[in-house]
Amino acid sequence: DLIHPNVQVYSYNPVVKGKKNILHCYVDGFHPPEIKITFQKNGVLIEKVETTELTFRLDWTFELLAYIPIVPDGKSNYSCIVVHSSITAPKNVTWGECFAP
Ligand SMILES: *[C@@H]1O[C@H](CO)[C@@H](O)[C@H](O)[C@H]1NC(C)=O
Ligand SMILES: *[C@@H]1O[C@H](CO)[C@@H](O)[C@H](O)[C@H]1NC(C)=O
Repeated sequence: DLIHPNVQVYSYNPVVKGKKNILHCYVDGFHPPEIKITFQKNGVLIEKVETTELTFRLDWTFELLAYIPIVPDGKSNYSCIVVHSSITAPKNVTWGECFAP
């Protein structure tokens, strides 16, 4: 069965302009485990992305955390783009400093 991923994008620490932070893209609830996660900053691909090990739950859905270091500049937008066999178009979740909670 194909189960589509939930995607959440949030900063690890509260956002302070000019202060190093980590942006998380937490993806869970999907099946099968093959998945591709990339980030873009203002529409430009970010090359260096770290991911945790893929873990699965008792219901056989999977979860994965991808993250990148960021230095908030007060105006940039970051997108997490998820490609998975359960969805026809990539999921694109954008996190922007101007509308960060
Ligand atoms: C994702 O959305 C952002 C903001 O709308 C856009 O700039 C970016 O080009 C989109 N990326 C992809 C791969 O769709
Ligand atoms: C970030 O997104 C907001 C809202 O869509 C837009 O007004 C702003 O120009 C974007 N910032 C950059 C640096 O592209």
